[in-house]
Amino acid sequence: MIHYLKKYRVLILVSGRGSNMISIIETCRRFEWPVTFLSVISDRPCEAIAKARNLSIPAEVVNREKLGKTFQTELLNKINYHNPDLIALAGFMVILDANLFSELFDSMINIHPSLLPMFKGLNTHQRVIDENVSVHGATVHSVSQGVDEGPIICQASIPVMPSDTKDTLAKKVLVLEHFIFPLSIGAVLSGKVIREENVWHRKDNCEPWFKENFKLFYEI
Ligand code: GRF
Repeated sequence: MIHYLKKYRVLILVSGRGSNMISIIETCRRFEWPVTFLSVISDRPCEAIAKARNLSIPAEVVNREKLGKTFQTELLNKINYHNPDLIALAGFMVILDANLFSELFDSMINIHPSLLPMFKGLNTHQRVIDENVSVHGATVHSVSQGVDEGPIICQASIPVMPSDTKDTLAKKVLVLEHFIFPLSIGAVLSGKVIREENVWHRKDNCEPWFKENFKLFYEI
């Protein structure tokens, strides 16, 4: 059981399938973490919107294509309206304008399908194959000005097998994502990991079960 001081207000930003969104919502519900999901916001019509509504979470599209130049301002207004404690970027395919969003960066957490700082950006699984790398994985990190560069909260890795393709890697890494993203959110909200300047630490005085279960790096 995680003990919290308050009920946390969480917003999830998505762009696609929404499997990380589902793992976050279901984990919070399964373990009765005191989290209120304010809304799921997408920058385009996508599967995740219907999936969120099926889970009884309000969902809205701030349509990037239709809004054009005003998209980022509209998105900022929408986020500020909700006033969340934490914003989970769960497959949100937008590079946020630092001039507008920098004050919110510290409350944003992103999932990235590689072992950062390796393979920032897109097409990570294919690039891992192309570069003959032997270990791959996923990273949960805070957001900062540089794309995929913020302080790392948690990582998990798998070996890359000779038989792996970009599709098999995508499947295996997604399993890691579904594990470490909700876990990191729980750890951050409950204060079991704390950020000092640009480094996340696991708190020394947290319960033994948490010390055993939350690692900053998992090898699977
Ligand atoms: C995930 O692989 C995530 O790491 C990346 O985009 C994908 C989103 O998948 N940023 P889903 O929408 O959560 O299923």
